[in-house]
Amino acid sequence: MIPLSPSQVIESLEWRYATKQFDASKKIDPATWSAIEDSLVLTPSSFGMQPWKFFVITDDTIRQQLLEHSWKQAQVVDASHVVVLAIKKQVDAAEVDRYMASTAAAREIPVESLEGFSKVIKGFLANPNLDKQEWAAKQVYIALGQLMATAALLGVDACPMEGFVPAKYDEVLGLDKLGYASVLVCPLGYRHSDDKYATQAKVRYPKAEVVQHLP
Ligand SMILES: Cc1cc2nc3c(=O)[nH]c(=O)nc-3n(C[C@H](O)[C@H](O)[C@H](O)COP(=O)(O)O)c2cc1C
Repeated sequence: MIPLSPSQVIESLEWRYATKQFDASKKIDPATWSAIEDSLVLTPSSFGMQPWKFFVITDDTIRQQLLEHSWKQAQVVDASHVVVLAIKKQVDAAEVDRYMASTAAAREIPVESLEGFSKVIKGFLANPNLDKQEWAAKQVYIALGQLMATAALLGVDACPMEGFVPAKYDEVLGLDKLGYASVLVCPLGYRHSDDKYATQAKVRYPKAEVVQHLP
């Protein structure tokens, strides 16, 4: 693996912004899109449980329906692709067993050797004080961060969105029946040359305030 240079990474992150206006005529090519999907799959999560699914929407009719529940944000119809990041609603002991089987297969080890790890996760999930949906949603936010950073490194624009009605999205996309609930939306594509937000200065508190070296 050849690391990118510090300046390459920072240049990409400064280039990215929450895109308000996409150029509807520009589509993300399949190889680039495939890398974006891979970055979602590669997102780390608590215990590695991956309590999520990422729904990709390109169909224009469905996107028009989603627009009605997106606080009038046209990014959902103009972007090349829309990702709806959703939590898995049922994360239980059976799901832990499935994950253990997946780990054993990937690492070519007996599933019995994972019993201790399995018990720890099951104990964590059985805690009555744990809000499992909130826990799963936190993992989905990590995926959003990875998605945005990856897109920027690939020169793809994105708009992270909490500004939508999750229950309506779930209805339009039939997520409830599939056992998922939407948490975030992220349209991706290429910025429109008219988007004035592209050239606005970044608003961030100074590094000296945000990052502190202790002691
Ligand atoms: C979780 C989250 C939800 C957001 N929701 C929206 C949204 O619904 N619509 C929008 O235009 N921007 C949304 N934003 C974009 C933020 O306003 C933006 O990232 C922030 O102002 C910093 O600007 P920048 O991303 O352009 O650097 C959201 C950002 C995050 C991280």
